[in-house]
Amino acid sequence: MPAEASAILESDSDNPRHIAIIMDGNGRWAQKRFMPRAVGHQAGVKAVRKIVEYCAKHKIEVLTLFAFSSENWRRPEAEVSLLMALFMATLQREINKLDRNNIRLRFIGDRTAFSDKLQQKMAEGEAKTQDNTALTVVVAANYGGHWDMCQAFQKVMEKMSAGELINQKISEELINQHLSTAGLPEPDLFIRTGGEQRVSNFMLWQLAYTELYFTKTLWPDFDQNSLDEAINSFKNRQRRFGHTSEQVLNKSVTL
Ligand code: IPE
Ligand code: IPE
Ligand code: MG
Repeated sequence: MPAEASAILESDSDNPRHIAIIMDGNGRWAQKRFMPRAVGHQAGVKAVRKIVEYCAKHKIEVLTLFAFSSENWRRPEAEVSLLMALFMATLQREINKLDRNNIRLRFIGDRTAFSDKLQQKMAEGEAKTQDNTALTVVVAANYGGHWDMCQAFQKVMEKMSAGELINQKISEELINQHLSTAGLPEPDLFIRTGGEQRVSNFMLWQLAYTELYFTKTLWPDFDQNSLDEAINSFKNRQRRFGHTSEQVLNKSVTL
């Protein structure tokens, strides 16, 4: 194997398994160019495509993208409608392409708030790609970390009152199994573009031990080199999960 190829394989082996991104800064990207915010959102979709390609190529297992938060309904009606239309158009255009590339699509969030047509398209995208085995792209739409925990507790409660889960204690595992992200590994790397240093109600439970990376780069400008930088920053960190640095260095513990 040529040296270059083996170096790529080696460096990919300590890649994060799951990258979760708050794609922020579309509006400011457009405003800087004296263009309407809609143009920024369209440019944001193009950035998504490149990042999905990168993750597929580098064998990342899961990429979660925060597309619309449970708080984003507070935006002006015209912007919300534009975002919904863009969401629909993107799904119509991309589902087959994702499927051809063996990419699995999954949505998290309260989808009951979306139009029937959009809900149908989401279900179609999930069904069509459910057996794909390369990258899983999770789109967080009308998602909130508080919502996720509430719906998990609600499901547990309903099962308990139906006589299932008898004598079960509330454990971390039980909660994990009922979150919208059930079955997915926890995010290793969290990225927020656009310069804000906050979590904005994204995956609150799941981010417990995730490495956080903030960049001023606005989402439409975030490209494959930017993702490389974020992943390199991740690779240079020592994850300790409560252990001491020495324990990790001596490999006397499993992380
Ligand atoms: C993120 O970009 C996209 C969504 C929330 C849908 P913004 O629209 O929040 O962009 P800024 O933060 O206003 O620049
Ligand atoms: C978070 O971005 C949600 C998404 C990127 C979808 P916002 O731009 O809505 O976050 P806040 O309101 O500034 O915290
Ligand atoms: Mg924003």
